[in-house]
Formats: sequence, structure tokens, C-alpha cells
Amino acid sequence: MIRVAPSILAADLLHLYDEIQKVVSAGCDVLHVDVMDGHFVPNLSFGPDFVNEIHQAFPELKLDVHLMMEHPEQYIRRFAKGAWNITVHAEITANLPDVLEEIKDCGVCRGISLKPATPVSNIVHLLDKTDLVLIMTVEPGFGGQPFKWEMLDKLRELRRIGYQGLLEADGGLTMDNLPECKQAGLDVAVMGTAVYRSQHLLEDIQKIHSL
Ligand code: DX5
Ligand code: ZN
Repeated sequence: MIRVAPSILAADLLHLYDEIQKVVSAGCDVLHVDVMDGHFVPNLSFGPDFVNEIHQAFPELKLDVHLMMEHPEQYIRRFAKGAWNITVHAEITANLPDVLEEIKDCGVCRGISLKPATPVSNIVHLLDKTDLVLIMTVEPGFGGQPFKWEMLDKLRELRRIGYQGLLEADGGLTMDNLPECKQAGLDVAVMGTAVYRSQHLLEDIQKIHSL
């Protein structure tokens, strides 16, 4: 079953409590929080206190924190207070095994993400130190971009080499491309625009869960 992880980047932030309540009521138990530092990506978004506030308000919800940051190693412990999973990017300069170890020390799932231009071969040596691989299916930084179909080859490659952890995709996911994502091995679908612009959210989530 594919799990939907709504991305609050696409939510109405002035009514965020209701926007989160809406996806929880529709059957989502994972929420994707895109953290951007204005350096790794040309955008700024949420901080660790914000994530912790969401966790306080929705303690049952698994917060899937995607750190699109140049130096996530400086913030792991602060984000870990509210996170279920913390994903860092393969392209950062810090020592990735150390960063993944610190995430594990905090009792949080370890995710690693690949930008579209970064091959799977760059992280093969790290796969035994991760719980989740997040394949960016758009250039990180902004929601609402078109889906990059060629990124499905990365999902297929990870499954082919026997990766047993969670496979997640992020960016441009819709009801149209999810069946092929599922075929390629997807477990968790990050969906911002498609969820928060849906006119029949409950139906859509149920349809996705039945894929
Ligand atoms: C890009 C962001 C987006 C967002 C989801 O950095 O990570 O991918 O979560 O985007 P859409 O709105 O395309 O589902
Ligand atoms: Zn994301």
C-alpha cells in the first residue's frame, strides 16, 4: 500500500491546524515538512520550533522532516524533538555516515535524498545506514513543478539492488503518475499540490491507498 505524506508546503499556512486536521481525517498518518535554508535551495520555509509545535498539536502524526539544508548536522537534535523521520541530502558536505548515526542516536528514522542529477551510485555505500530513501522527482525548492518521469529509474534501481528500506518520492506526484510509481517500488508518496488542491480528498486518498 502506498502511504500519502501530504507536504504542508502547499497548505494554506494561515489555517494550518485545519489543513493538517483535514489530511488526518482523510486517513493520512504521515506529514511531510519541507525545511529549506535559502542556501541549499533558493527558498526559505520552516524551523525546528515550528516542527515541534506541530508535533505537540498532533502527537500521533508521523512528521517526515525533509532537510533541504547545507548544514543539517547543526540542527538534527532540534528537529528530532518532533520528527518521526529526518531526511538529509546526499549532496551535503558533512560526513553522511556521522549525520545518519546522529539521527539514529535521537531515535528517529534515517532518510537520505537524491536531487534529480545525483545518481543512486552515490549512496549505495550508505544504504545499510538508512531507513528511507527519498527520490526527488522535481528540483528541490518549490512545490507545483512537473513530475520528472525519468526519476522512476532510480526507484527501480534501488529495488533491483535489493534495497529493503522505505522508498519515497517527492515532487509532482498525482493520481496520474502514482500507479507507475507503485510499480517502480514506491512506498511513500509526498504530495503537496495534488492533496491540497483536491476537490475530493477523502476519495483520492482512499484510491491511492488501494493502489
Ligand atoms: C520541493 C518540495 C515539493 C513539495 C511537494 O522541494 O519538496 O516537492 O514537497 O510538491 P508538489 O506540490 O509538487 O506535490
Ligand atoms: Zn520534500
